[in-house]
Amino acid sequence: MERCDTIVRDATVLDGSGGEAESQDVAILGDRICAVGPDLDLRAKTTIEARGLCLAPGFIDTHTHDDTFAIRDPRMLPKLTQGVTTVIVGNCGISAAPVRLRAEPPDPMNLLGDASAFNYPTFASYVEAVGQARPAVNVAALAGHTALRANHMDRLDRPATAGEIAEMRSQLGEALDHGALGLSSGLAYASARAAPVEELLALAEPLRYAGGIYTTHMRTEAALILDAMKEAAEIGRLSGVPVIISHLKCSGVDNWGRSAEILDALDTLRSHQRIACDCYPYAASSSTLDLLQVDERVTITITWSTPHADFAGWTLKKIAAHWGVTQREAAKRLQPAGAIYHSMSEQDMRRILRHPATMIGSDGLPNDPLPHPRLWGTFPRVLGRYSREEKMFSFAGAVHKMTGMPAHRFALEKRGLVKEDYYADLVLFDADRVIDTATFSDSVRRADGILHVWVNGVLSYAAGSATGDRGGRFVARGKQTWLDHQGDEGRR
Ligand code: ZN
Ligand code: CU
Repeated sequence: MERCDTIVRDATVLDGSGGEAESQDVAILGDRICAVGPDLDLRAKTTIEARGLCLAPGFIDTHTHDDTFAIRDPRMLPKLTQGVTTVIVGNCGISAAPVRLRAEPPDPMNLLGDASAFNYPTFASYVEAVGQARPAVNVAALAGHTALRANHMDRLDRPATAGEIAEMRSQLGEALDHGALGLSSGLAYASARAAPVEELLALAEPLRYAGGIYTTHMRTEAALILDAMKEAAEIGRLSGVPVIISHLKCSGVDNWGRSAEILDALDTLRSHQRIACDCYPYAASSSTLDLLQVDERVTITITWSTPHADFAGWTLKKIAAHWGVTQREAAKRLQPAGAIYHSMSEQDMRRILRHPATMIGSDGLPNDPLPHPRLWGTFPRVLGRYSREEKMFSFAGAVHKMTGMPAHRFALEKRGLVKEDYYADLVLFDADRVIDTATFSDSVRRADGILHVWVNGVLSYAAGSATGDRGGRFVARGKQTWLDHQGDEGRR
């Protein structure tokens, strides 16, 4: 009889393709899935009886800022405890590599840490550091546009010159040569806002030849969001590169109720080009404190402040009252600072989450002392709250948004499906119990119902505790198979 390391018997397998669940045995040998089928005739060192439990591909967190955290705290508990087995770092224009800082990192690169956290002058050095840290989950990385700007420009409030663009392109080329997934931008931030579309087009060009992707925190998510989407789509269309709109949302009270209009616009674009989005399942955003987002109608909670650390956890309203100043003035005094903005409508968020082009990305901020609950709760919340309780989509559909769909779009080869010869990134969970427990007032809490997690065949989480064994790797860009005019629902 043939042998394998582990066999999971009689699990309800959600294979990541979006297809309906089936009761199967799944066998692991080394770092791969070696067999999938009913009643496998194999001898295993370890057998797990999984009747009544769901087995899915490990979740892929498409939108993270775990760049430096994955190295500093390789246990990666905020993600491992959710069943996440791969994080995509380098989003919103900010990446840990390739970075050569001359001073403290510009906003919002400071979300990744202070200058001492940026030790990766080349993308290759970051790849090596991930390998040495051996984090509990896999790491795949984008190169950030703002990071490239900070490397080559004396000031960021202007467009890059032709010479600077050439330097940025050669640095992006090094990143792509060493497996970067593509380029991310954060055009809403002051550090990139002055970049005209031509600057992005010049940087998108090498992506096409490499088979890379362009992801963007768009120039605005408020009143002019349709123009911003048009710009993002144009960059993809003119360069022949797939586009992911990061954390798609209708931001700001005046913009509430526009999700249907925005998704219609996205669908129109999708009929001509490769474009999709990610979303986190909360009606509140979080980033550095931005004066443009201060609005008396929106509850803003301060999560950290360099000059006024004691006010972490207070609302901006309360701080303003305490000082007897306007919220805007209080925000100015608190900067640099971090904030949670309750600036979305739940209805809009739900509509975006449900859309067939939407993947799941936490946008969690692991360096924040009082993080938004999305850091620890995103994936179990989509499964427990929005699939099981609210029935917004089936479990198979929810899992597809977290696995097969992102693996296909980001070109993560042999990941995202429960399939023979694929990497054994797997999560066993209890569909009746899986739920987030992190809240806005108590956000550092692990989810319920996530039982076992394997990363490259290494059992890293067992019966709800980290095993201490870590199997994560740097995952380089694979062959781009998201082809033009093929629809973009992934491998259904
Ligand atoms: Zn962002
Ligand atoms: Cu982000």
